[in-house]
Amino acid sequence: MRKKSLAALLPMRPIPSPLVLRRARESDLEALLLLIHDTIDVSYRGVYPESAIEFFKNHHRRERILERLRGGVVLVFERTNRLIATGALVGNEILGVFVSPDHQRRGFGRRIMLVLESHAKGLGLRSVTLSVSLPAERFYRAIGYELLKPRHIKMPDGERLDYWEAWKIIP
Ligand SMILES: CC(C)(COP(=O)(O)OP(=O)(O)OC[C@H]1O[C@@H](n2cnc3c(N)ncnc32)[C@H](O)[C@@H]1OP(=O)(O)O)[C@@H](O)C(=O)NCCC(=O)NCCS
Repeated sequence: MRKKSLAALLPMRPIPSPLVLRRARESDLEALLLLIHDTIDVSYRGVYPESAIEFFKNHHRRERILERLRGGVVLVFERTNRLIATGALVGNEILGVFVSPDHQRRGFGRRIMLVLESHAKGLGLRSVTLSVSLPAERFYRAIGYELLKPRHIKMPDGERLDYWEAWKIIP
């Protein structure tokens, strides 16, 4: 009688992949760049003009992300070697908060913000500031940020990039 292969004997159940929230390392740079730029491309399209989308991507360029990795706290949610969400604290500013479009509205953004705020508290900060993009307005209001002033940057083609300044007293 022919022996069955091991694979044929084992039930084919998917192995649950662990979800990890950790500090990002410099070796995450390329994956972070991909996550941030892909999220800008998908989530800001139709909301911001093309020139503003390019502005955002340039603002979150490789060198800027590296500065945050070296001078602040950058968090990432990782699943099966893929980064699915990120956010950073540099000084008293929270920035670079992005959740991949296929993982939005599942609590990743809220979790990242809570951990960044607790880092800020651990550093002795009483409040944090941030810039709020148009699609993120309801998210930041929902987690207790006060939107202070509407701001805009004029793009070279005459279009506008609108955003808010916001802050929160850390509870
Ligand atoms: C904004 C962003 C970071 C939010 O992260 P997220 O993981 O999708 O948000 P969460 O699931 O943690 O949402 C927490 C709460 O915020 C509110 N919220 C989040 N997104 C919302 C939306 N699109 N519309 C209305 N409310 C929203 C809800 O109250 C939500 O709680 P609920 O789902 O229980 O109702 C994410 O959607 C994102 O990366 N967007 C594109 C990039 C961006 O704008 N980044 C911010 C730069 S300033």
